Amino acid sequence: MKRFQARHAAPALSVLMALMLATGALAGSGRHDADSDAADDSALTFDASNYTRVGVTIDGTYVPVRWYKNVCYVKQPVLMATTQTGLGGATQVIDNPQCGYQNLNIFVPEASLNDPKTALYLAVNNGGWMASYQRASVTDGATLDSSTSNVGAALKAGYVYVDVATRGRNVVAADATYPGRSPAVVVDAKAAVRYLRLNDARMPGSAERIVVNGTSGGGGLVSILGASGNSPDYLPYLAAIGAAGIDKRGRSTLRDDVLAVVAYCPITDLGHADLAYEWLFTALNSRALAGTSNANPTASAELASRFPAYQRSLGLRNADGQRLTADNMLATIQAEVIRSAETAMRAGTTLPKLGESFTVSGMGGSKTYVNDWMDVDTTTQRVLSLDMTRYLAFVATQATLKPTPAFDQSGLSVLTNPAGESNLFGTPTQLYSNFTDYSWNHNDKTDGVGLDETGLTWTQFLRQPGTRVDEQIRLIDPLAFIGSQADTSPYWYVRHGTRDRDTAFTVSINLSRALAADRKVADVNYRLAWNQPHAGNYDVPEAMAWVATVLKAAERRGR
Ligand code: DHB
Repeated sequence: MKRFQARHAAPALSVLMALMLATGALAGSGRHDADSDAADDSALTFDASNYTRVGVTIDGTYVPVRWYKNVCYVKQPVLMATTQTGLGGATQVIDNPQCGYQNLNIFVPEASLNDPKTALYLAVNNGGWMASYQRASVTDGATLDSSTSNVGAALKAGYVYVDVATRGRNVVAADATYPGRSPAVVVDAKAAVRYLRLNDARMPGSAERIVVNGTSGGGGLVSILGASGNSPDYLPYLAAIGAAGIDKRGRSTLRDDVLAVVAYCPITDLGHADLAYEWLFTALNSRALAGTSNANPTASAELASRFPAYQRSLGLRNADGQRLTADNMLATIQAEVIRSAETAMRAGTTLPKLGESFTVSGMGGSKTYVNDWMDVDTTTQRVLSLDMTRYLAFVATQATLKPTPAFDQSGLSVLTNPAGESNLFGTPTQLYSNFTDYSWNHNDKTDGVGLDETGLTWTQFLRQPGTRVDEQIRLIDPLAFIGSQADTSPYWYVRHGTRDRDTAFTVSINLSRALAADRKVADVNYRLAWNQPHAGNYDVPEAMAWVATVLKAAERRGR
């Protein structure tokens, strides 16, 4: 487990002593008063009386709810520009530039007002690693079905439901800089958790029982949030926005770990997602078989060729103890797809037999495909055969594959290009920076970035004083924290659709194997979700039953 080792090596004792002497922190120096260092978080005190009463009908029953509106969770929120650009370039005029990207909408079911133990269910609503502006998922008078709405299911279970707004890669500050570069979105989510910990005694429910939910970019966000609990690496960033529980010397006086993670199709491991994507979709010729317009065989081949070494470097193992390498990755994916299909059949889903057609519905309407890749026995509910070449060609056909490279793209013309993630990286005054070796060295755009204009290779670039892109990658990468000294969440529910083409299946498989190898992790409930696209919250009864089970397990362990 080479990469899964402690990341927070203690500084040498002598250095520590010198530092403490210099700052007067050693006992007997007589000059230091611990109280004077204490965090002043009085501005972040939760006001329990400041709510609006709303109500929703869940499964036919009226549920009164207290709504705490747009609660700013930091002392120094970043002042934003009033016009923001959203997905696809649409502009939006926002009415809360002061704190609309760093606040909470908190919904407390009145039945839980006196329950100090109920869970806090936090929804991060960002997609695409974009900013997520304040949002209220509970609307007065709404009718909710707890079998399809996770909001309804959470409130019905008596959990406090919290919408978390965060900065992200597209947000523009009032001073025209980009304050949402990595790790801002993670820092914000941690600041939100800290706010809830600070106010635990003033609010119903328990901040020791936080469950976080996110999809896609949000799945990536809750994964790093869950992986990196209490890591000191984020403290300077937390201090800069006035997060709760940072004392005057930048030390933490509150925790920011969370109890449970519910992550759908996490867009994560961005530093290697391009390699994984090209490897997966070229290993069995899927790009070509699907006839997609995004073929770039030279780039694909070069990126794919780097995947085996990367995969090996992770040092992960399957449940049978075998090392998980590029050599057995396709077989591993095949086994996961079979497990997904058989689980669906046992749950009552009718799967098409070989040669039968089936329909999938998506944003562009519904489309019919012939199942030419998997044979099932509907009586025994077993998969008889699964042709990986045809299966991956189907995945690549039903939603056109991303271009190559899939994530680290150059030449983003608008802040919001949803096709690439490079504007999550770089400085607050740069439009974007490449964040991988390949894209940096192959950048041919006039953008001030890359070997072409800087004359620096990727390796040379990273050696430049002040270069932060590698750190930006690490601080959003759960694999950098799972198995480290961080307080990684003990409970994980991870789903990734069997026809998702937004990131390689290897990404969630690796996440699940890393979690399984971490002794702090008690439960990894991982599965490819049968016939699901890039989406989330499609399995509310199953996910919520899991949440209820792990909350009980946590209670037995004293949380
Ligand atoms: C999302 C989708 C992507 O394809 C991606 O690269 C990042 C995020 C999303 O839907 O959130």
